[in-house]
Amino acid sequence: MPSPPSLRADFVWGVSTASYQIEGAVQEDGRGASIWDTYCRQVGRIANGDNGDVACDHYHRYAEDIELMRALGIGAYRFSVAWPRILPAGRGAVNEAGLAFYERLIDAVLAAGIEPWLCLYHWDLPQALDDHGGWVNRDSALWFADYVAVVARHFGDRVKRFATFNEPSVFTLFGYALGKHAPGIADRTDLAHGAGVEVLRSLVPAASIGAIHNYQPCYASPDTPQNGAAAQLIDAFWNRAFPDPQLLASYPPSIAGAFEPYQQAGDMAAICRPVDWFGLNHYSPIYCKADQNAQLGFSFSDAPTHLGRTGIGWPIHPDAFRETLMAIAGRYRLPIYVLENGYGGPEQADASGQITDLPRIEYLSAYTQAMRVAIAAGVDVRGYFVWSLLDNFEWAEGYVQRFGLVHVDYPSQQRTPKASAGWYAQMIAASRPDVGTGTARHAET
Ligand code: GCO
Repeated sequence: MPSPPSLRADFVWGVSTASYQIEGAVQEDGRGASIWDTYCRQVGRIANGDNGDVACDHYHRYAEDIELMRALGIGAYRFSVAWPRILPAGRGAVNEAGLAFYERLIDAVLAAGIEPWLCLYHWDLPQALDDHGGWVNRDSALWFADYVAVVARHFGDRVKRFATFNEPSVFTLFGYALGKHAPGIADRTDLAHGAGVEVLRSLVPAASIGAIHNYQPCYASPDTPQNGAAAQLIDAFWNRAFPDPQLLASYPPSIAGAFEPYQQAGDMAAICRPVDWFGLNHYSPIYCKADQNAQLGFSFSDAPTHLGRTGIGWPIHPDAFRETLMAIAGRYRLPIYVLENGYGGPEQADASGQITDLPRIEYLSAYTQAMRVAIAAGVDVRGYFVWSLLDNFEWAEGYVQRFGLVHVDYPSQQRTPKASAGWYAQMIAASRPDVGTGTARHAET
C-alpha cells in the first residue's frame, strides 16, 4: 500500500456539532424558542417524540466536551450559534446571558489550543421570526445581517472562521417539501448569505468565510435516459441551487426559471460575494429515478445492492466522495474543507460499557483515504471534520441514530469515547505530528 500523499502542513482535523442537536437548555438564561422547539412538539414529527430540550446538555457540559476534543488531538471545533439564544425574538434586544455562554465556550476552545469554527445558522430560526414569515419574508436577509453583526462584534476578536449557513438546500428546498415557498425561500436565504458575508467583511477584517453545502453525486437508478434526466435535475436542485448563485452568480440554467419570479434587480450581485473556502458536507451519493407523480418529476431510488450501507441505511461509496471533491474543485475553484462526514446508526454499549464501532472506523478510514486520493490528484482540501463529536439529536430520527465518536448515555449524560475516537486520534497523530495537537499552525484561508 503506497504511503498516503502528504497533507498540507496546516491541514486541520476537526469535529462538528450543531446548537440545537447538542446544547439542550432550551428555556435557560433567556433563550427564545426556535422553529425546532415548535416542530418537535408536533405529534408524529420526531421519532419516539424526542426533542432537543436536553440533548447532550452541552450548554452545561461544554468544558467536559472540549477536554474530550483536546485529549483526542482535535485541531478545530465546528459548532453553531443558536440565533434565539443571542436574540430571543430574532431581532431587537440582545440576550447578554446567551452571549456569555458562547464567550465561555469560545474562550475554553481557544484555551485548549483548538481553533473555533463558528456556523451562524444551523436551522434553529427564532420562532418569532417564523411568525413574521421566516425565510419567505424578504426582510429575513436584514434580520440575519443584524444577527451576524451582533455575533461578529462580540466574537470577531477571537473567532476568524465563519460559516454563514449549514446546508441551505436542505432547510429550504426540501425543508419546505419543495412547496410553493421553496424557490422563494432559496432566493431569500441566498440574499441572507450575501448580507452576512458583507457584515463579516466589515466587522472582522481577518475573517475566513464560507458556506457549508451538502453535495453528492446523483446517479440514475436504473440507468435509463429518463432517469438520467431526473438525476441531472436533482443535481441542479440538491447540489447547485445555492453554491452556483453564491459562487458563480447564476442559478443552474435547468432550474433558473423556478427562482426568477423571486429575484429583484441587484439580487445576484448581493448574493454572489467573495468567500474564502467551500464547506462540504458529504455522506453518500443519491440514487434517483424519473417519477411523473413526484413534485419535481424525480424521486429517490435504491442504491445498487453491492454497496454496503451505514446503520442509518446510507450507501457506503467512498469513490463518490472522491468524485464529489473533484467536481467541486473543478466547478467552484475554492479551497475545500470537509465539514461533515461520518457514520450513523443505532448502537449500544457492550457489557463493559464500551462501544467497539468497527463499521464507523471502516467508513472513516475508507472516506479519508478517498479524500487523500483526491488531494494527490490536485484537489485543494485543507481540512476534514467528522460529524460528530457526540451522539446527538438527529432531527426527525431523534436519538435513535448515533453519529458520535463519543457515545452519550442520555439518561446519565455520561460520555464514553468509542473505538473510533481512538482511531481518529491515532490517525491525526500519524498524519501530521504537528497537526491536531492544538499547536498546529492554522491555515491562512
Ligand atoms: C445534516 C446536518 C447534520 C446532521 C448530519 C447527519 O447534514 O443533516 O448538517 O445536522 O445531523 O448530517 O445527518
